[in-house]
Amino acid sequence: MEQPGGIAGLRHSRIAGTGRYLPERVLTNQDLERMVDTTDEWIRTRTGMERRHMAADEQASSDLAVPAARAALEAANCSPDEIDLVVVGTTTPDLVFPNVGCLVQKALEIPPCAAFSCEAACTGWLYGMSVADGMIRLGRASKALVVGVEVLSRITDWSDRSTCVLFGDGAGAVVLEPAEEPGLMSFILGADGNYVDILRSRAGVSRNPAELGDGGLAVRMKGNEVFKIAVRTMGRTVDQLLERHGLDRGAIDWLIPHQANLRIIQAIGKRLRLPDERVVLTVQDHGNTGAASIPLALDVAIRDGRIRRGQRIMMVSFGGGLTWAAGLMQF
Ligand code: ACO
Repeated sequence: MEQPGGIAGLRHSRIAGTGRYLPERVLTNQDLERMVDTTDEWIRTRTGMERRHMAADEQASSDLAVPAARAALEAANCSPDEIDLVVVGTTTPDLVFPNVGCLVQKALEIPPCAAFSCEAACTGWLYGMSVADGMIRLGRASKALVVGVEVLSRITDWSDRSTCVLFGDGAGAVVLEPAEEPGLMSFILGADGNYVDILRSRAGVSRNPAELGDGGLAVRMKGNEVFKIAVRTMGRTVDQLLERHGLDRGAIDWLIPHQANLRIIQAIGKRLRLPDERVVLTVQDHGNTGAASIPLALDVAIRDGRIRRGQRIMMVSFGGGLTWAAGLMQF
C-alpha cells in the first residue's frame, strides 16, 4: 500500500521473524563417493561440507519458499493479510513467469501487492533485503516478506565432481516490519560483469536455448578464481560497510557469510577478527544453497538462541555475475 509521506516516526525496518525449510532428502559425502570420483575427506577439507538437502522431484522453488515463509510469518506473529511486499531471491525460479514472488503470494493468500524475484545468483536475498528495506523506509511498503530459495540440484551437472559436491537446496525467509530504530542499518550492493565467465551457465531462456536439454543450465565454474575473488571482494565490502558506520572490526557480534566454502568463510572471519564461535556456519549441513544460504543460517542461529535481540550482525555474500553484497543490522 502506497504511503507517499512515509510512516511518521517509523523510518527504519527490522526483522520481525525468520523461518526456514529444508527438503527431507539428505545427500551425504558418502553418497557422492558412490556417484563421482571423490572422497569424503576431499570434500570436507576443501569445502567443509558433510551433507546437503535435495528437493524431491516434484518440489520447485516456491514449494520450498512457502513453508519457510509460513515459519517466518508465525515467528513474526504476522498474518499474510498484513504483508504488502514479497521479494524472492533465487537463481532457480519455478518458471520464467509468473515470478516466484507471485507464486508464494498466491499460496499464502497474501493480498494484492508488489511481488517479484531478484536475479543476482547467491547474492539475491541480500539484494532483495536492501530493496525491501528501502521500500519500508520510503513508506512504500509496511511489512515485507523476503525469501531466499534455491533448487540448485536442478542446475547441477551430476557427472562433474568439481561442482556437484558443492550445492544444496533450501529456503530461508524473513518478515520485515517498520521500526523507530534500525534494524537494518545499511547495505552495500555491487557487481562486476567483467567476471561473467568464471561462474555461469551455458544456456538460458534466450541464450542457446537449444542446449537447455543438454546440460546447458548447469553451473560452470572456475573454482580457484571464484575463490580468490570471493575472499577479496567480501573482505573489502565488509570493511567499507564498517567504515560507513564508523565501526571497528571488533564491533560485530555475529558474522553470517554466504555458505559457499568453509575456507572462504574462515578468511572473512579472520579479517573481522572474530573468533570462530562468532561465525554462523551451516555449510557442513546445507552445502551451498545460493540465495538461501544466509537466511537459512540466520534462522538456525536465531532459533537455537545464539543470536539475540540487540546484537550486531554482518551479512556478506557473493555469487555469479559476479555480484556481491553486505548488510549490517542490529537484530
Ligand atoms: N573430489 C576430488 N578431487 C576433486 C574434486 C572432488 N570433488 N573436485 C576437484 N578435484 C580435483 C581437481 O581435479 C584438481 O585435481 P588436479 O590437481 O589433479 O588437477 C584438484 O582436486 C584441485 O582442484 P582445485 O579446483 O584447485 O581445488 P580447490 O582447492 O580450489 O577447491 C573448490 C575447489 C572447492 C571448488 C574451491 O575452488 C571453491 O570453493 N571455490 C569457490 C566456489 C564457490 O564459492 N562458488 C560459488 C558458486 S555459487 C553460485 O553462484 C551458484
